[in-house]
Amino acid sequence: MTIIVTGGAGFIGSNFIFYELDKHPEDRIVCLDALTYAGSLSTLQPVMDKENFRFVKLDIRDREGVYKLFEEEKPDIIVNFAAESHVDRSIENPTIFLETNIIGTSVLMDACRKYGIQRYHQVSTDEVYGDLPIDRPDLFFHEDTPIHTSSPYSTSKASADLLVMAYHRTYGLPVTISRCSNNYGPYQFPEKLIPLMIANALADKPLPVYGEGKNVRDWLYVEDHCKAIDLIIRKGKEGETYNIGGHNEMQNIQIVKLICDYLGKPYSLIEHVTDRKGHDQRYAIDPTKIHEELGWLPETMFADGIKKTIQWYLDHKDWWENIISGEYQNYYQKMYGSRKVLD
Ligand code: NAD
Ligand code: TYD
Repeated sequence: MTIIVTGGAGFIGSNFIFYELDKHPEDRIVCLDALTYAGSLSTLQPVMDKENFRFVKLDIRDREGVYKLFEEEKPDIIVNFAAESHVDRSIENPTIFLETNIIGTSVLMDACRKYGIQRYHQVSTDEVYGDLPIDRPDLFFHEDTPIHTSSPYSTSKASADLLVMAYHRTYGLPVTISRCSNNYGPYQFPEKLIPLMIANALADKPLPVYGEGKNVRDWLYVEDHCKAIDLIIRKGKEGETYNIGGHNEMQNIQIVKLICDYLGKPYSLIEHVTDRKGHDQRYAIDPTKIHEELGWLPETMFADGIKKTIQWYLDHKDWWENIISGEYQNYYQKMYGSRKVLD
């Protein structure tokens, strides 16, 4: 089989490519990525020379380029990870989120209709369900929870999901959607909570916690997410949506303190700063459907996953130091420079 993985030079896409090449060496993987600020070819270096792997620098909005690639590769499966993925950036500049996350998705699906495929899989997020109150730990996101988004990012992802289901109903496109909770693990871009806090703590820089830090996220080790997607594209039912999460809810402040503990850094580095606009309170996934239908269960406990992750960042300083030494400095200044430190 030939699988096109879009966004494979980013965090989850690259982890998925490593997982697939290892688990299914008989398959061919073609990575399509525009190499935006979030994508890095150095991440894919370990697989670049493999015979059953090809990298193509391409934007999913480039219809002509995408059609040409489909003509060349005649893919069986498309897994679409390519997206603008950071909520804070979407608050600053929504337009690129709409262009990549919605229009780009439609271009990929048009190519699927034109050339025919076995499966189009859309990698979505639990953020399409909006948020849950912190004081209602009995509530979870189910697949039929209404879409109710908060940020331009989650709205663009929800719009793409609706479009995917419309292509299924209208054109009979064989689609699946997965909605996963927050991922952590190797190769996550240091703008996101966990790698940002690791990088700052190692440099003894302030650790900027938005507001009180009581917001809850449901953390999943990235490899468990990859295993779930692998199962869905091979065994999942067409037209279905699957929630992916490991019942691992934690407050942001707990995560930041844990990182300090592991690295031997004082909590005095923690700075409570101006909250994110429209900040979602709590995400929590009910993964019963994927467990019962496909037998998926998370395998990495948070205590082990976070240790592995921190160790990975310690062992791969060249990877992230290279990133944060460039344009990232301007980003950091713009995003954090004007945030007030709260008492
Ligand atoms: P990321 O930002 O690390 O990587 C995104 C990749 O997409 C980058 O390699 C980038 O170069 C590429 N890309 C961006 N725009 C493109 C375009 N127009 N054409 C081609 N390539 C383009 O993102 P991630 O964290 O790996 O997330 C991957 C997917 O998973 C996204 O769709 C995201 O919405 C979803 N998701 C992420 C999380 C999470 O916790 N990170 C959780 C649930 C779902
Ligand atoms: P993030 O990693 O951006 O993921 P998402 O917003 O998609 O859940 O943020 C995770 C949580 O951490 C979120 O509640 C916002 C918070 N956060 C901070 O407190 N400080 C930071 O510098 C960042 C990047 C995030």
